[in-house]
Amino acid sequence: MSTGHSGQKELEGWIKPPNPELYINPLPVRIWHWLNALGFVVLILTGIQIRYANLFNVLSFETAVKTHNWVAFTVIANYFVWLGFYLFSDKITVYHPELNMRKFFDKAFKQIIYYSYGIFRGEKSPHKVQPYDKFNPMQSITYQIVMLLVVPIQFITGIMMWDIKRFEAPIAFLGGIRSVDTVHVLIFIFFVSFTMIHAYMGALGHTPSAHFKEMFTGYEEE
Ligand code: HEM
Repeated sequence: MSTGHSGQKELEGWIKPPNPELYINPLPVRIWHWLNALGFVVLILTGIQIRYANLFNVLSFETAVKTHNWVAFTVIANYFVWLGFYLFSDKITVYHPELNMRKFFDKAFKQIIYYSYGIFRGEKSPHKVQPYDKFNPMQSITYQIVMLLVVPIQFITGIMMWDIKRFEAPIAFLGGIRSVDTVHVLIFIFFVSFTMIHAYMGALGHTPSAHFKEMFTGYEEE
């Protein structure tokens, strides 16, 4: 009795080597992302408690401020996991901006048409996810602005308000504590909307859970 060929095939089915072409979210990015997401949710909730202390009292003002500060410093430290990973790995290509404006707008337009029309007709996304080019043009521009501009401004304004005495000079330079606070609150409002839209868009893969799984396992589903 020979099990040779079919036996080998069967074995391959069981111990299929992972396909590197589908490995799109490396471990540091996954750890950073879920810690960051959890941190943002806590920051948003404690931020609401701090801002509207007169409206409700789920946490005392003091506990809300303390939690907000500790979680904020954890989120800031965690940001450097993301930044360090991309700066020191060849995966930085996923964040390279498309400098050819014609090409960028052409691809972005196709993506918008897909999200507003094609997706409802069961069409495939015009962007093919690849380890070194995983973002579609809309994701690419959004994540660049969020991670390199909005998030750092939120950290800096937050740190200034954490110790207003120590940061007296830069606060005065930026127009006083009211201006710094206004920027922090406006970005807070942005992040409430961003997190909701981003989580919704995360459910728009070929199945509702596909992108979430990718962010846990690292691999895109076949
Ligand atoms: C709480 C809810 C959140 C959920 C459910 C969620 C879900 C996801 C999913 C499924 C992906 C992979 C698909 C994709 O790349 O678009 C992703 C990526 C990403 N998310 Fe989130 N996310 C959440 C919060 C956040 C927050 C608060 C930020 C704020 C900075 C954020 C920033 C990012 C970035 C920058 C990427 C791309 C990661 C990279 O490869 O560099 N996410 N998210």
